[in-house]
Amino acid sequence: MRGIILSGGSATRLRPCTKVTSKQLLPIYNRPMIYYPLNTLIKAGIKEILIIIAPERAGDYLNLLGSGKEFGVRFTYEIQDKPRGLAEAFIIGENFIDDDNVCMILGDNIFEDDLSAEIKNFKSGGKVFAKKVNDPERFGVVKFDANGKAEQIAEKPKKWISDYAVTGLYIYDFRVIEAAKNVKPSERGEIEITDLHNWYLEKGELEVAQVNGEWIDAGTFDSLLEAQILAKEKLQDKLII
Ligand code: G1P
Repeated sequence: MRGIILSGGSATRLRPCTKVTSKQLLPIYNRPMIYYPLNTLIKAGIKEILIIIAPERAGDYLNLLGSGKEFGVRFTYEIQDKPRGLAEAFIIGENFIDDDNVCMILGDNIFEDDLSAEIKNFKSGGKVFAKKVNDPERFGVVKFDANGKAEQIAEKPKKWISDYAVTGLYIYDFRVIEAAKNVKPSERGEIEITDLHNWYLEKGELEVAQVNGEWIDAGTFDSLLEAQILAKEKLQDKLII
């Protein structure tokens, strides 16, 4: 299993804090934000981690994280010139993934749950994680049928279909590379990760697991504050780096 942390983007919603550095390097209590997704991957035993970053912030990442030796892992860095969508990560990471399975986590996603077993047990196909939220319009959402099986996944649908957000942790087999290459840009001009979930869903090969603990996408000032509180009150004794 290989790991990817997608840590690009310009985070205009967090200006002026993000004028001089990347959102994913802002402090969440006593650690830079990216340490939290890194913990998730490292705890799951992943040793090879690709970090995808914006060109103007590359120096900051190298200064902070270096080779990975300090954490007992190896980092590879790739540049995403423009935020063309989350699915692009698998095209950028084609050579890195090769024919392995891959677990991608967004650099601004913080999970209370230890998802190590879920990551380690993955065999093939696709696996995503859902969480009930109050503001589903902010996310990709998944609708379940009466038996609790995922039947529809949509990216920020205008009309409500479900309260279950698809969180920013995705596990796929290497076929995701070809699937990503065939995704057409959405209305917002991005190649959407939701299209990849649907590619596996249509084949009957997508598993949707539930997240029990708190989950935060720290992309706004309010969610940044919530993340700080979660980190201080519930995560300190669970972090290994
Ligand atoms: C992205 C994905 C969305 C997912 C969310 C999780 O949204 O497109 O499907 O629910 O991350 O954090 P974005 O943050 O790019 O708007």
